[in-house]
Amino acid sequence: MATRKNTTPEKTIRKKTTAEPAIVVENAHKSFGRQVVHEDVNLSVPRGKKTVIVGPSGAGKSVLLKYILGLDQPDSGRVLIEGRQMNGADDQSLEAIRSQLGVVFQGAALFDSRTIFDNVALPLIEKTELSSEEIEHKVMSQLKALQIDEAAAKFPSQISGGMQKRAAMARALVRDPQIILFDEPTTGLDPETQANIYDMLEATHERIGYTALIVSHDIPQIFRIADRIAILHNRTLIDGVEPGKVQNAPSPWLKGILAEMKKWK
Ligand SMILES: Nc1ncnc2c1ncn2[C@@H]1O[C@H](COP(=O)(O)OP(=O)(O)OP(=O)(O)O)[C@@H](O)[C@H]1O
Ligand SMILES: [Mg+2]
Repeated sequence: MATRKNTTPEKTIRKKTTAEPAIVVENAHKSFGRQVVHEDVNLSVPRGKKTVIVGPSGAGKSVLLKYILGLDQPDSGRVLIEGRQMNGADDQSLEAIRSQLGVVFQGAALFDSRTIFDNVALPLIEKTELSSEEIEHKVMSQLKALQIDEAAAKFPSQISGGMQKRAAMARALVRDPQIILFDEPTTGLDPETQANIYDMLEATHERIGYTALIVSHDIPQIFRIADRIAILHNRTLIDGVEPGKVQNAPSPWLKGILAEMKKWK
């Protein structure tokens, strides 16, 4: 694992030190009508690490992230964030748990009618009591860190797809969340821009040390930044795969993809 740089004392205090996972999904079952999506899915996301979820389209990766955000619930099972149960929680508790989460949705999901600055400032305006000077400082430093400060006054339609993804990342980071969920943060980007987004993700992670849960189709590139891999296929999840041992993971689906890639090398 890479050594962490520039960890401020404030950030060190904020982080918990126990070995308890940041996110736990326990025995989750989920069906939509007759379609079974999750069958006894178990996932444990270690604090401060980058966990990557891969799996074919329609496997239920976004649904899994929705459990964690409290936007959907498993039919049975439990979802715990920092030891607190998401499913079945009342609105007030959900809001308190959600305040620890940042999310970069599949697609950047920026507001088209707002500038990049305003998009990134919105969570601070809505959820904090910060002054406008403090908000400006936080937003601009986040935009600088992701190298899009020059686009602050532009609208989403006026910047490239890669810049939009970085703006979405800035918006997720601006409240200093302890956990960030990324749902395919590089969809629709060319390989060079994809690599750039993952470099940014690594850099912000090294700087802040948040818990990252990243859903991605970018196999094998995504394995480069993973501390741990989970494979969701055929309603079940294989958890805790080490990136160095991904070829040996007991997943015929992943083995098939890796074999296919070898042919093109
Ligand atoms: N609200 C819903 N109502 C009915 N079916 C749903 C709902 N949400 C998800 N599904 C179904 O559940 C399955 C899993 O969906 P999900 O969006 O989690 O897939 P995914 O793994 O994220 O796929 P992709 O990689 O294409 O994003 C899909 O077949 C989808 O149609
Ligand atoms: Mg999805």
